[in-house]
Amino acid sequence: MELSQNTDFTDRVIMAAPAEEPERQYYFIDVMKSILAEKAAALGRKLTMHIETFGCQMNEKDSETLAGILGAMGYEESDSEDADLVLYNTCTVRENANTRVYGRIGYLGNRKKLNPDKRIVLCGCMMQENAAVEKIRASYRFVDVIFGTHNIFLLAELLYRREVGGKQVICVWDKAQRIVESLPRINKYGFKAGINIMYGCDNFCTYCIVPYVRGRERSRAAADIVEEARHLAANGVREVMLLGQNVNSYGKKSDDGISFAKLLRMVSEVEGIARVRFMTPHPKDFADELIEEIAVNDKICKHVHLPLQSGSTKLLAAMNRHYTKEQYLELAAKIKERIPGVAVTTDIIIGFPGETEADVDDTIDVVRKAGFMSAYTFIYSKRNGTPAAKMDGQVSEEVAGVRFKRLLEAVGETSAAQAAKLTGESVTVLCEEYKAKEGLMTGRMDNNLLVHFPAKEEMLGSLVRVNLDECKGFYFLGSLV
Ligand code: SAH
Ligand code: SF4
Ligand code: F3S
Repeated sequence: MELSQNTDFTDRVIMAAPAEEPERQYYFIDVMKSILAEKAAALGRKLTMHIETFGCQMNEKDSETLAGILGAMGYEESDSEDADLVLYNTCTVRENANTRVYGRIGYLGNRKKLNPDKRIVLCGCMMQENAAVEKIRASYRFVDVIFGTHNIFLLAELLYRREVGGKQVICVWDKAQRIVESLPRINKYGFKAGINIMYGCDNFCTYCIVPYVRGRERSRAAADIVEEARHLAANGVREVMLLGQNVNSYGKKSDDGISFAKLLRMVSEVEGIARVRFMTPHPKDFADELIEEIAVNDKICKHVHLPLQSGSTKLLAAMNRHYTKEQYLELAAKIKERIPGVAVTTDIIIGFPGETEADVDDTIDVVRKAGFMSAYTFIYSKRNGTPAAKMDGQVSEEVAGVRFKRLLEAVGETSAAQAAKLTGESVTVLCEEYKAKEGLMTGRMDNNLLVHFPAKEEMLGSLVRVNLDECKGFYFLGSLV
């Protein structure tokens, strides 16, 4: 989709902009900074921004970059949707994610009537779908700027075009053109951060829209990733999470010989980094070298999120997952055997086209045998444009609902049993959140479980030892050792 022709292309500011990135965007950030400073002076207060992120860690990470760009322009963060600029970073992986966004945009439109200078910005995966953008263009004229997943770095330039054009600016690229490094970033937590190691996905699981909205798989250079980890560590980050849709295929297309296991090692060797996580590996690419690295490297968290999707070999084939029920179970067993204390977690979809009761039995059988510490369970959502949307045997909502309940019960039982085994142990946790009222800290174990314990606020961001006194099903109550 082209940039809508509603801005003045003879605009001198635009014509004087550098062609190179990221220099061009730093130029527009500066231009916007003076425009916003004038607005703020007229209002006699600082301008505020509110960012709402839907979807996965990729979007969370993108939102930190978007916050960085807006922050550099002079916006201050706010919790309120009455902020001067509201940005929704959208997700479209399931239909309900979309529905929620439309409702909220309507609400924002009403708020804008009270503050006509309010800016509403939409971006993210949903904006990569023509139908969604058309709907917004037709029915939500008050939205100011729309862009997609491939050009988030353009935010400052697009906001400037909105300022001079006075009309809705739409700029969505159907393909990634380049990876722009060195953009500003506001790190949400300070002590932990995500690092993209790759973008996009080539797997085309038949139910999934991600390859269509995030484009083909592109890995970042290992040197850039390590440099980012160094920079984060120098700014106080203790834990990093390496992010990608299929992290263990990292480097398969490049010839520098750096596998995902090697990359994990390189990042763990960065001074100041105490913990390394990764999300999401694909069972089909889980090399022994990777299991070995997790086993021997103390800094790598003993947590493997291993999306199952289904326990039925027939459905796995229809989903294009490239493994069988038996292969999955073997892999899970190997991981548990080689990495003592590891927590294996998973994602499961119920109601995929063609699913029978016997397929659900197979899935529940895997849940029992693999001993998941936790599982994210989803009811299949039909995504237009994916192969599964056209498959025979679509399962009714009602039937899927009943099966979903059955699955939830099995997941509840096994994960509670897994967690309960840890009662009485002492573990290292990263202090992530403090509730001043109760005087309670929330710590994350390396297996990703949470424990609440009495502590002081100053401990936020540090690694401490905690006793797991009482298991509450999915979390623990504990005390400092
Ligand atoms: N790349 C990761 C995560 C993809 S999205 C992976 O391969 O697992 C996160 C989860 O959303 C998926 O694991 C899947 O369980 C779920 N999901 C994706 N598409 C879906 C759909 N159409 N309906 C329901 N759940 C879906
Ligand atoms: Fe979607 Fe499959 Fe890619 Fe995961 S691996 S993002 S489920 S296509
Ligand atoms: Fe959603 Fe996009 Fe992530 S569709 S799950 S935000 S890659």
